[in-house]
Amino acid sequence: MTKTIAIPPLTDELAGVLIDAETIDRRVTVLADQINRDYAGITEPLILVGVLKGSFIFLSDLCRKLTIPHVIDFISVSSYGAGTNTSGNVRLLMDTRENQEGHHVLIVEDILDSGYTLDYLDRNFKTRGTKSVKNCVLLDKPTRHVVNVDIAYLGFEVPDVWVVGYGLDVGEKYRTLPYIAEYRSQEA
Ligand code: PRP
Repeated sequence: MTKTIAIPPLTDELAGVLIDAETIDRRVTVLADQINRDYAGITEPLILVGVLKGSFIFLSDLCRKLTIPHVIDFISVSSYGAGTNTSGNVRLLMDTRENQEGHHVLIVEDILDSGYTLDYLDRNFKTRGTKSVKNCVLLDKPTRHVVNVDIAYLGFEVPDVWVVGYGLDVGEKYRTLPYIAEYRSQEA
């Protein structure tokens, strides 16, 4: 039986699909395979730390493709507030629940923009007695980097446009689109 998946249509606010759902799924599988290989044989579960809110869909798909022992945790930080430009002043809004001491940590992010968030998180987790701290980033906007961040596992590079869907939002809209789309501001 053919499975029919309803794809939400583009609206006037969305300029077009940048990365479709099948392409995302294939890439997430590749990333999970790499992670399974790299962490094969670990003695303590890998702690996946999803950065709220944007990473929640990526993390959900990624972790279900992992075959290594792992646990899920979340952290919430903010550098944007309600605006669209990062302040560079990253604030910890909600900390993790797991103790990372003696564990490998993999920070899971939806997007790397200025790099302030991942730079902060990387330095923060390295102070927690972790065995290692790496990151897995779905989208990277290389032209926007302000601070240098090494990406361990990368999904896609994207141009400097406003991207929504698959966890990413504009004013909390479009997070649950199954694809990544370009948002077109309605402001003149
Ligand atoms: C976004 C995104 C990353 C961060 C990346 O979070 O999810 O966490 O910004 O930007 P940076 O590299 O410039 O630091 P946002 O503050 O929009 O929150 P959200 O994930 O809850 O939408």
